Amino acid sequence: MFHPSDHDAELSEEEFRLLRDFIHEKFGLYFDDGQRGTLRARLTARLSALDLMSFEDYYHYLRFGPQRTEELSRMASHLTNNETYFFREQPQLQVFSEHVLRGIKEKKARGSDRVLRLLSAGCSTGEEVHTLAMLVYDSGQFFWNWDVEIVGVDVDEAALEKARKGVYYHNSFRGLSPALKERHFAREGNGEKVKDALRRMIRFRTGNLLEASTYEGLGAFDAILCRNVLIYFSDVMIRRVVEHFHRALVPGGFLLLGHAESLSRITDAFTPIRFPGAMIYQKPEREGA
Ligand SMILES: C[S@@+](CC[C@H](N)C(=O)[O-])C[C@H]1O[C@@H](n2cnc3c(N)ncnc32)[C@H](O)[C@@H]1O
Repeated sequence: MFHPSDHDAELSEEEFRLLRDFIHEKFGLYFDDGQRGTLRARLTARLSALDLMSFEDYYHYLRFGPQRTEELSRMASHLTNNETYFFREQPQLQVFSEHVLRGIKEKKARGSDRVLRLLSAGCSTGEEVHTLAMLVYDSGQFFWNWDVEIVGVDVDEAALEKARKGVYYHNSFRGLSPALKERHFAREGNGEKVKDALRRMIRFRTGNLLEASTYEGLGAFDAILCRNVLIYFSDVMIRRVVEHFHRALVPGGFLLLGHAESLSRITDAFTPIRFPGAMIYQKPEREGA
């Protein structure tokens, strides 16, 4: 018997535009005119899963279907690139340890604030969050009366499920030295599980970086890492996300983007600080400074 899911639906120019604009509005991700085939390949499985005949039907389902909220989350999983690994972009992480962490510690040591709060925005399967936890732990500077919280946020629920388990395999370890692996992981089945000392500092939240509700109740952050996420966004949507980051950071807080990402044509609300091989941004201590 013919089954709609056997039908290999074409993605017409018009359907592509409808879906592309919808995705852009919801997630900030932008598929340009040359990526019609990519979008079709990524979403074909969703048509099959829902037994839909065409991408137009899928678009209507996304807008009006009774399960549209759940479908949005599943769609996000198919659209996003989840590539990540521990200690990605090492030179910038060195700056994070030597400049950002140390600066925060010195500043807070002058007052009574003993809270360190970091955000990995677009954390995928959690390698970046755990990398931050290793850096904080191994800095040896935030024990005793310090309260450390590292939050990972991503729109992709399937990726976050892996992050919450904290069990990783070969590919994730390609940037990690054997000594660090030995110190922070314990064998579990075919994988390696992050030890509890790191896990205690970490929590994950499902959320869309474009939406204000994602940041509600999270409190203020000393630093935000949003690396290899905005590269897929349009400028308009980068600006929207970065405005949220600005509000979520403490005065003097730091923003670290991926090496291919920059705020130069987006906003001058942050001060760029250049280091050899890496660059970071800082929110001014005083508005208008
Ligand atoms: C390539 S991964 C980057 C992981 C990590 N930051 C790194 O640099 O290794 C990009 C992640 O951004 C997430 N993402 C994309 N758009 C998002 C949005 N609008 N809200 C939240 N997360 C988003 C994707 O789900 C994906 O997990």
